Amino acid sequence: MKIAVVGTGYVGLVTGTCFADTGNDVTCIDIDQKKIDNLNKGIIPIYEPGLTEMVLHNYEAQRLHFTTDLPAAIKPAEVVYLAVGTPQGEDGAANLSAMWAVVEAISPHLRDDAVVVTKSTVPVGTNERIYSMLKDFTGRNCHVASNPEFLKEGAAIEDFMKPDRVVVGVRDEEDAEVLRQLYKPFLRTEKPFLVMSPQSAEMTKYVANALLSTKISFINEMANLCEKMGGDINDVRRGIGHDSRIGFAFLFPGVGYGGSCFPKDVRALAAMAEEHGTVPQMLRSVDEVNERQKTVMIDKVKTHFDGKLEGKTITVWGLAFKPRTDDIREAPALVLIDWMLEQGATVRVQDPEALEKVKADYGDKLTYCERRMGSVDGADALVIMTEWKDYHSPDFAEMYQLMASPVIFDGRNLYEPERMKRRGYTYHSIGRPTVSPSD
Ligand code: UDX
Repeated sequence: MKIAVVGTGYVGLVTGTCFADTGNDVTCIDIDQKKIDNLNKGIIPIYEPGLTEMVLHNYEAQRLHFTTDLPAAIKPAEVVYLAVGTPQGEDGAANLSAMWAVVEAISPHLRDDAVVVTKSTVPVGTNERIYSMLKDFTGRNCHVASNPEFLKEGAAIEDFMKPDRVVVGVRDEEDAEVLRQLYKPFLRTEKPFLVMSPQSAEMTKYVANALLSTKISFINEMANLCEKMGGDINDVRRGIGHDSRIGFAFLFPGVGYGGSCFPKDVRALAAMAEEHGTVPQMLRSVDEVNERQKTVMIDKVKTHFDGKLEGKTITVWGLAFKPRTDDIREAPALVLIDWMLEQGATVRVQDPEALEKVKADYGDKLTYCERRMGSVDGADALVIMTEWKDYHSPDFAEMYQLMASPVIFDGRNLYEPERMKRRGYTYHSIGRPTVSPSD
């Protein structure tokens, strides 16, 4: 099939590349000339495992093209994916100005039978609005479908190639059939292709992200209760997870969720609910609990140092909002770093992928460390904010020798408290008792 993908951000690039990989002829379009020039030189704007190789492979096979020439790319396309950014506006609602501009720009060039598909996360009702805009612009009933993505950063290729399900929202079976054919190679493991109305498909995306965010805020609140009342959240997690109605997934306590999806989508859904005259109590609480959770490490560090951070050197491991990405959007680590800088601490940072991005924002306010062990040399404490694999089993004996004082704040519960105590560390974690060698 001939496919055009408008928007070469995270979602657009992964979508276009994976469709090219299954033999389609895909053209990715962007208004950013530099981005397109770079892509044509094989320079990929984001870090995503496996993506660079896949882009290069399909580019060389001449199945994947990058251009700023929107009319030329739209004219032959049987399917036009819209994957432009929908950033959070000031009121929390998604800002769709880029989407409307693209709909207008593609309208004179669309084939009569082209199926226009929204891939970006868009408010419920967007598909209907695009449908009526295209009717106004073209004078005919266009084919407009909704096909939300459920990709996780760091595992996007795998998620796209082996989805748990594909959801499409359509007005008629003809459009569903076009998308069913397109997705056939990805659903060979008998995973479902679910056809529903455009509104239900749009809603599905928000509800999935809202529920996953709710699980995280819920377990974080329970972890905080364990800290106050006694108990170890890890044991509690095991205790509840074996109940098949509950399960284990997405119930890891931590320093709060970040990234480009959960915070934005929870707020956007709440804003939509308010627009419709309802009070989204759960959604607002999920967001509030999360904002609060992003400061738990501040509380712990503050208490430990009696509020006096001036002259202290603190090392932070993990800056990206989660492992296997260099994305620092809404990353909890940044909340902690800002506070420590305000308090006059010397802050050293280490991350396998995100150092460059942080450097661009913080410049010489921080000390950037390429090496894990070097970063703790002389440090008064280490704070772990992201569970990168590299951090799972460091040489604790060497670290003990290097640190000025052996104190670890672990925001991801990577280590066993009792073992850390035996190794001589004061060890703070989430929802578990703090241990120290003098106990
Ligand atoms: C998420 C959704 O998973 C994906 O389906 C959607 O398309 C986009 O949003 P992503 O933001 O890439 O994907 O990351 P994800 O792996 O889901 O993690 C989100 C955040 O939740 C991270 O900050 C992570 O640290 C946190 N998290 C996740 C927890 O704190 N505990 C958990 O148990 C799981």
